[in-house]
Amino acid sequence: VPIQAPDNIAHCVNASDGIRDLNDAVRGVSCCPPLTSPQSYPVDYVLPKNQPMRTRLTAHQASSDPVYVKKYRDAMAAMRALPDDDPRSWKNQGKVHCAYCNGALTQEKSGFDSFYLQIHNNWLFYPYHRWYLYFYERILGSLINDPTFALPYWNWDNPEGMSIPEMFETSLPDPANPAGRPSPRNNSLFDAYRDVLHLQPAILDIGRIGGTDQQAIIENNLFSMYNQMITGTTPNGFFGGQMAAGVDNMNEAGSIEAGAHIAVHSWVGNPRMANNEDMGNLYSSGYDPLFYSHHSNVDRLWSIWKNLDPVNNTDPVDPDWTDASYVFYDENKNLVRVYNKDCLSTTNMGYQYADSPMPWTTYSP
Ligand code: C2O
Repeated sequence: VPIQAPDNIAHCVNASDGIRDLNDAVRGVSCCPPLTSPQSYPVDYVLPKNQPMRTRLTAHQASSDPVYVKKYRDAMAAMRALPDDDPRSWKNQGKVHCAYCNGALTQEKSGFDSFYLQIHNNWLFYPYHRWYLYFYERILGSLINDPTFALPYWNWDNPEGMSIPEMFETSLPDPANPAGRPSPRNNSLFDAYRDVLHLQPAILDIGRIGGTDQQAIIENNLFSMYNQMITGTTPNGFFGGQMAAGVDNMNEAGSIEAGAHIAVHSWVGNPRMANNEDMGNLYSSGYDPLFYSHHSNVDRLWSIWKNLDPVNNTDPVDPDWTDASYVFYDENKNLVRVYNKDCLSTTNMGYQYADSPMPWTTYSP
């Protein structure tokens, strides 16, 4: 039986699972969705037709395009300004991640109300995050009236993109006091809970080899990418454990999820916070705008993996996977249910990735 999110989203409790220090959880453990929907139960989502294509650019290149950066900052500022009872608000979008990761929801719809719903460490990882970003991107686009708006992807698998993209950290003048000292706090893409030692120009260290030899770290990153994308990544090894309803927790993350993906999370999170907020813990990750850029790259790697070997690298066909489903609010605040089987093609979903070099494809150990 496939895992399905509950129909009644009021069946949700405070998060606890996976949060080391509940008392110092600065983002709060109440991560249930607001109950303000035109309809009280989710309706099955239908992908809109004839939409303009949204093209996700690399965040390091987009950082030097002032028109794009302004759009993204305006959209993010508008999202932050929405009230707490609006499901599209920055806070509620952050809670979505926590609800599906930290024991707030159960598998009640699939007949197991004493088991948590967990979309990490198993094969639900790629499709769940694809849908999550899909709605997040559409909400941002609708807030600035631009249906072509696309998230930027943090291209950390390419040496050009192996540090935090500039746009997320730029200091800006205070609009209320333009003559005052610029601060990153005036930048809607900034997040106060990041590791200050890992801001630019620090180079991401996927394999955690440490040391100061930047060239060695970059090369090891490329070897790690080769390993996680090419070496022995049978569909199982790439997607992770075949989680179905009635399994409480599965610790079988796929190669990228367990590797580069987690490495980036813990590299960005602040080690001085009780739970490594924000990016270092699943409950708080969704509050950092950088999360969505990070996950765009993870999502892009899913598409790339399929293209690397179209015969062998295929999506699961087991109904436990294809019929697994999640509930989100869309950009019109409608509560919708989405299925894995409807997210297999980014083109059908109305978006694509701008190409970027993939030097790791030749870094076989
Ligand atoms: Cu849902 Cu990168 O985690």
